[in-house]
Amino acid sequence: MNNLFQKKILLIICGGVSAYKSLELIRLLKKQGVEVKTILTKSAKEFVTPLSVTSLSQGKVYDDLFNAENEAEMNHISLSRWADVILVVPATANTISKLSAGSSDDLASTVILASDKDVFLTPAMNVRMWEHPSTRENLKKLKSFGYKIIGPEIGDMACGEFGEGKITEPDNIVQEINSYFNKLHKNYKLKALVTAGPTNEYIDPVRFITNKSSGKQGHALAKAFAKKGFQTTLISGPTNLEVGSNIKLIKVETADEMFKATQDNLPTDVAIFSAAVADFKVKEINSSKIKKTGKLNLELEKNIDILNYVSKHNSLRPKLVIGFAAETNNVEKNAKKKLEEKNCDWIIANDVSNKAIGFHSNFNEVSIYYRDKNMHDEKLGIKSKSEISDEIVDRVIKKLN
Ligand code: PMT
Repeated sequence: MNNLFQKKILLIICGGVSAYKSLELIRLLKKQGVEVKTILTKSAKEFVTPLSVTSLSQGKVYDDLFNAENEAEMNHISLSRWADVILVVPATANTISKLSAGSSDDLASTVILASDKDVFLTPAMNVRMWEHPSTRENLKKLKSFGYKIIGPEIGDMACGEFGEGKITEPDNIVQEINSYFNKLHKNYKLKALVTAGPTNEYIDPVRFITNKSSGKQGHALAKAFAKKGFQTTLISGPTNLEVGSNIKLIKVETADEMFKATQDNLPTDVAIFSAAVADFKVKEINSSKIKKTGKLNLELEKNIDILNYVSKHNSLRPKLVIGFAAETNNVEKNAKKKLEEKNCDWIIANDVSNKAIGFHSNFNEVSIYYRDKNMHDEKLGIKSKSEISDEIVDRVIKKLN
């Protein structure tokens, strides 16, 4: 089945002997109805010409980060947003090394670094380069960042040696990309709701009680759902984060607003509550700024527990309800208690006593506790919040399917 029709692929051609295979790849993609834009790195031009690429792709070839004409037509950020996926052919040892270091010294690496889409690498190099510990290490790092790797294959190489390092044939690359979109299409029918960030509970018009949540974990989860094809709604407390593409963002400030937005966006297939919702709000918000005189006594009252409300709702309960538990001690015990009390299907616990992870950090370390006794609790090691989100979403897909 053709899942590629009208898809947009940004093909980045790098400098390697197998770069010529990219021409056949473009031909095959075009045959499936794919819209192809290409970036040619400086060294790629030694192997294929912009004219042959543009003739086959029937589109513009981009080559230089600092090209006023390119930037005026479509700047490098728009180019990365335009694509449904990015495909790097061939991914040379040098490209792999540059990407793993996060370098952005040309258009290709800048676009990849700025992208919020899946990036497929098709490695191709001499067998010794492929087996070199630095290439292995770089690749491991890239996989952990979520890059998808196609190949390489074992066979005779252009350099005359034999071994692993041969680029995957273009028709097999097309098949891989096709099956990627096939999986995405299955998820298009699914809806995900994510809560994220802190809430602000006002004391007076200019002061509020809040917490350290940056929203990074929740935003990463929403991105991971959207990337996998879910219709994704992100209900976020105040953050400085840029929202990913294909996400319906609802900005809220207080727990009450978050609750209302959640109610308005049910039903959904999966709901995941990563927001650090304030447990209490001020009973009576002062209508004017409180003066510094005397003592200040604040009477607090409990906020509604949004997760609890949703997970215990008879008709609107999503198929899968996932809570988070931010704990500083007795992590497992407290998390399991929340799993029961809040009627969740899964609870994801993070130990927020470790300042290097959890609140505000780009990293987290979580354990997943399942209500279903047939599922085994899991601990995901310290990883970036986006990697953790990808792993959680993979488990959600498995469960919902
Ligand atoms: O935002 P970051 O800086 O990336 O940090 C991420 C995080 C540490 C905030 C996140 O990973 C996390 O642990 N979120 C839950 C924080 C929390 O408030 O946990 P809790 O144990 O107090 O609440 C348990 C669950 O109930 C959570 O799913 C929470 O969203 C939900 N809850 C709590 C209170 C309330 N009134 N309504 C709720 O829905």
